[in-house]
Amino acid sequence: KSESTLSIVVVGASGDLAKKKIFPALFALYYKGYFPETFTIYGFARTSMDDEEFRDLISMTLLCRIDEAENCGPKMDTFLDRCHYFSGQYDSVQSFTQLGAELDAQEAMLSSTANRIFYLSVPPNIFTNCAQGVSNGASSKTGWSRVIVEKPFGRDTESSRKLSNELMECLTEDQIYRIDHYLAKELVDNLTVLRFSNLIFEPLWNRNHIRNVQIIFSEDFGTEGRGGYFDNYGIIRDIMQNHLLQVLAILCMEPPVSLDAEHIRDEKVKVLQSMKPITMDDTVIGQYKKDRTGKLPSYLDDDTVPKGSLCPTFAAVALHIKNARWDGVPFLMKAGKALEKREAQIRVQFRHVPGNLYQSKLGTDLEGVTNELVIRIQPDEAMYLRLNNKVPGLGMRIDRTKLDLSYHQEYGEESMSAGAYERLILDVMQGDKRMFIRSDELDAAWELFTPLLHHLDEAKAQPELYPYGSRGPIGAHYLASKYGVRWGDAQE
Ligand code: BG6
Repeated sequence: KSESTLSIVVVGASGDLAKKKIFPALFALYYKGYFPETFTIYGFARTSMDDEEFRDLISMTLLCRIDEAENCGPKMDTFLDRCHYFSGQYDSVQSFTQLGAELDAQEAMLSSTANRIFYLSVPPNIFTNCAQGVSNGASSKTGWSRVIVEKPFGRDTESSRKLSNELMECLTEDQIYRIDHYLAKELVDNLTVLRFSNLIFEPLWNRNHIRNVQIIFSEDFGTEGRGGYFDNYGIIRDIMQNHLLQVLAILCMEPPVSLDAEHIRDEKVKVLQSMKPITMDDTVIGQYKKDRTGKLPSYLDDDTVPKGSLCPTFAAVALHIKNARWDGVPFLMKAGKALEKREAQIRVQFRHVPGNLYQSKLGTDLEGVTNELVIRIQPDEAMYLRLNNKVPGLGMRIDRTKLDLSYHQEYGEESMSAGAYERLILDVMQGDKRMFIRSDELDAAWELFTPLLHHLDEAKAQPELYPYGSRGPIGAHYLASKYGVRWGDAQE
């Protein structure tokens, strides 16, 4: 018998996230040797199905990467052998108790110590029921039990607090792993390395040298059938309040005492608490309409979207951090669906060179010639620094060029193959909470956006329409120019 065994229960096993992300990530971790010697996987959902049907269902989503294909078939069979299915009701402690008994029986054959992970891949209105089920009926009696939850964590400060309190009535904060998968993206994970293990950035990382920071997210597809979920939340709750704000917190926090999860999260909370709630003056919202040819649908054409919905599919906001490091620096964020391209990036624009000796060669467009550090989170992960440089040859011509680190070129295609979910599940297995959201952090994030969200709802604010596949509403440019900024992505 091995020292300890691990069971992973995916609650909501027949859902989209489970099929597309969770099971493939579990298989990839197993394939790469990150699982303990013995393990058991359970899919839990309402549909009745036997183990074989369940294995068939998930096997279709498991991928063998080309360079790993040799051993893949047999490994997949072994993996699937350890997958079981349990059909039950999410709001029934009895179902969880039965599941617990099945787990006890499986685990007893493998080890005397069993650790359990419950991945709640279910809608947020049943998080609490499931957490109660886990805690009262299915947690391990011989090892730890951890629970993974994924946003939406409420719709505003109040509902998020309510949810947190309910979860905390049955689980300890230690047991709860709140996922924000953007934290596990390679270039976001790298932000602390970039800032704190290179000499050249940190001395410049403040209001004296940085003119503005932009955090930009765009997708080149609309809600396409996901409107039912999306319309309840909108782009601000779906992307900004969590993914982009998390990126901003890591980018702007003070150096933590250590790399310990609590120390990092202490600093993230502080930076969020130093920010002012976002105002309407600093906000632009948009919604996509048909493209110019009329072929690509508008948001309202999505059958799953309620008629006449005012839900924003685009937003741009300006944020301000009132602390010694950042006072006066505008942080501009924009996020949108159905835009020109799929991209997520951070752009740090530096100040102009005072008394620049080459000003006459650089022209009058100061904006175009300042240094800029661009961190492209996706696609084609890259980091580059925009510089002014002499064009080789006689005379003196100055060009704007890049010091360019392309991840694919430098580290190879394969290095980018570990998905965010693989990384996060591995962290849960290892108990590393660096990439998960602590409850006070979540609360601070909601406090920033809640007044704005309430105002938008109460005022029935009309979003500015923009064509599917365009660069988004013009209003976003006015917002940036109010701060003397031009969106960097529009200049490329
Ligand atoms: C999810 C949002 O959290 O992130 C989706 O709910 C969005 O609307 C997705 O499409 C984007 O994630 P990624 O990793 O594809 O950039």
